[in-house]
Amino acid sequence: SLIRKSGRTIGVLVPNLNNPFFSRFLRGIEDEAIKQDYVPLIFGSNNSQEQETHYLFESVRRAADGMIIASAVSDINYIDNILNQNGIPYILIDQAPVVKGDRVDANNEKGGALLADYLIKNGHTNVTVVCATKPTLNLQERLQGFVETYKKNGTPIPDANIITTDMTKKGGYDATAAALATKPNAIFAINDEVAIGLYRGLEEAGLKIPEDISIVGYDDIDLGEYIYPKLTTVHQPAFEMGTKAAQMIINRIEDQNEPIQQVSLPVSLVERDSVRAID
Ligand code: RIB
Repeated sequence: SLIRKSGRTIGVLVPNLNNPFFSRFLRGIEDEAIKQDYVPLIFGSNNSQEQETHYLFESVRRAADGMIIASAVSDINYIDNILNQNGIPYILIDQAPVVKGDRVDANNEKGGALLADYLIKNGHTNVTVVCATKPTLNLQERLQGFVETYKKNGTPIPDANIITTDMTKKGGYDATAAALATKPNAIFAINDEVAIGLYRGLEEAGLKIPEDISIVGYDDIDLGEYIYPKLTTVHQPAFEMGTKAAQMIINRIEDQNEPIQQVSLPVSLVERDSVRAID
């Protein structure tokens, strides 16, 4: 292992720096790190496991004191292998630790259920979900909350109505044809980025939101208020997730014996203009 001298550095790895959810999350981390005199080293992996691995090793080499990781990869054993071997504490966002460890998340199951309840209330029993090809745990839970609520309502969602794609605007855009082939009244895009891609695809298909089709997203990124119609979504407290993660990793760096903490922050429905009530 490497001989390290503390430089009060926190490595931060996120899957996609283009997604405003992660800029807000990073601002939360910065805010707390500055207060506590730590410097965040920020890496974006572009949804690639190879890049993640590269940056994990770089963080080890550059003697990060701890890491905050939002991985795009569903099986995270490899993260534990790299960091544990090198004695670097880390905290995962949106994923459960391999062995019992610290975790921050925002209640994804509840968020999925909130959207399902809202769509059902508005008469949308025929829905399609656009999700990630290999969903990480947070997305699995989000989907589960949504799907279970429909099941409880007596209107289960057929498997064919769950479409998968990349977690980007382009992924949403590319999924438009497959989503429309299922003839839904409403679409649940698993995050706002995917929803924005679908907005363009739906427009090109000659469909008007919400008159012809309703759509909801997830995250409450700031863009959602500036697209037309304004996007109905679930608010995730991304900034607070960042400050909390930074506090927890700094505590862990400074005292390895601190009790393990698993924090789940609340989410809420943000009702805007992208859903129409039907009978
Ligand atoms: O994987 C990216 C997504 O996970 C973000 O858009 C946000 O929803 C996070 O929880």
